[in-house]
Amino acid sequence: MKTRLLTEQDIEEAAAILHRGGLLGIPTETVYGLGADGLNAEAVRRIFLAKGRPQDNPLILHIPEAGWLERYCRNIPAAAYTLAKRFWPGPLTMILRRRENVPNAVTCGMSTVGVRCPDHPVTLEILRAASSPVAAPSGNRSGRPSPTCAAHMLEDMDGRIDAIVDGGPCDVGVESTIIDLTAPVPRLLRPGGLPLEALREALGEVAVDKAVLAPLAAGEKPRAPGMKYRHYAPRAPVTVVTGESRRTARYIRQRLGEYTGVICFDEYRGEFPGCVVESIGSFRDKAEQARRVFDALRVFDETGVEAIFAQCPGNTGLGLAVANRLKKAAGFQVVNVGGEEP
Ligand code: TXA
Ligand code: MG
Repeated sequence: MKTRLLTEQDIEEAAAILHRGGLLGIPTETVYGLGADGLNAEAVRRIFLAKGRPQDNPLILHIPEAGWLERYCRNIPAAAYTLAKRFWPGPLTMILRRRENVPNAVTCGMSTVGVRCPDHPVTLEILRAASSPVAAPSGNRSGRPSPTCAAHMLEDMDGRIDAIVDGGPCDVGVESTIIDLTAPVPRLLRPGGLPLEALREALGEVAVDKAVLAPLAAGEKPRAPGMKYRHYAPRAPVTVVTGESRRTARYIRQRLGEYTGVICFDEYRGEFPGCVVESIGSFRDKAEQARRVFDALRVFDETGVEAIFAQCPGNTGLGLAVANRLKKAAGFQVVNVGGEEP
């Protein structure tokens, strides 16, 4: 199959690909998605094949407005509308009870479904033109970092899907925040582009699922099935170093070998001579870190590095999502050197 690159003008063509059960790369504000008609089980199954995705990892349904929620979800709590009003379109996925018309292929047989309204003008137009929800995981091959531009998606998916719509680089750079609204207390399942603090401000109490902060014990089941997989991982082993940034830089400097990769804040770029250095933005600028973290993780496989160390932001604001992605890339191999990085 030849994978075509479409432009922002090709809305009708993009919708037609979805209608005939094809696979379409779509831009969103978080990361690029690998979309198919979310009501066409055959098409949805092809997503799993193209990605090499495990069969037990459900997909998010993308819709153009909160008005579509009733079509695919039932027993929708008031909190869902509160959040939709404040944060949609935007980087927030809500887990709700699903209706019977949502194929098992999307939910992997779960009684709930993840729904989100992405904040990208082109994809919103495609969703409206298709007049069907689009099931879309991130557009990477399974286990690879999520793509934040059309070129990165093409790297992973060339020849496996019909087309990718190039909508420019992603503004947010990490995936959506996932909140489970079917639990008695709303629960954060995956930190992402919308900070936990914003959810708490809107809803009051929000619990944080264990899988967000720590690796699961053998046999333990996370509530978001995808949280159990080692993700985003370069071939070389990654060690995440948490703590105050001058200390983390010093720790890493003391461990540099001949072929070492370093992910660091801009302020420390010059401190790792002879290494493959990828900076992800100032230690003060977490939005920039979120935009650049996946691109940094992608670089190392083209180099001969044998070990990678990463400086890591603290858990406030977008730092929770950036730190989570780094730690997942490291298989939760984390060293704390003390001192707080805010
Ligand atoms: O920003 C995003 O969310 C991107 C863009 C393309 O929208 N999509 C994305 O999809 O990150 P994906 O498939 O890479 O991650 C979806 C996560 C997985 O961890 C999956 O297990 C979880 O959402 N998930 C999906 N449906 C669920 C459900 N019903 N209950 C719990 N977790 C669910
Ligand atoms: Mg993904």
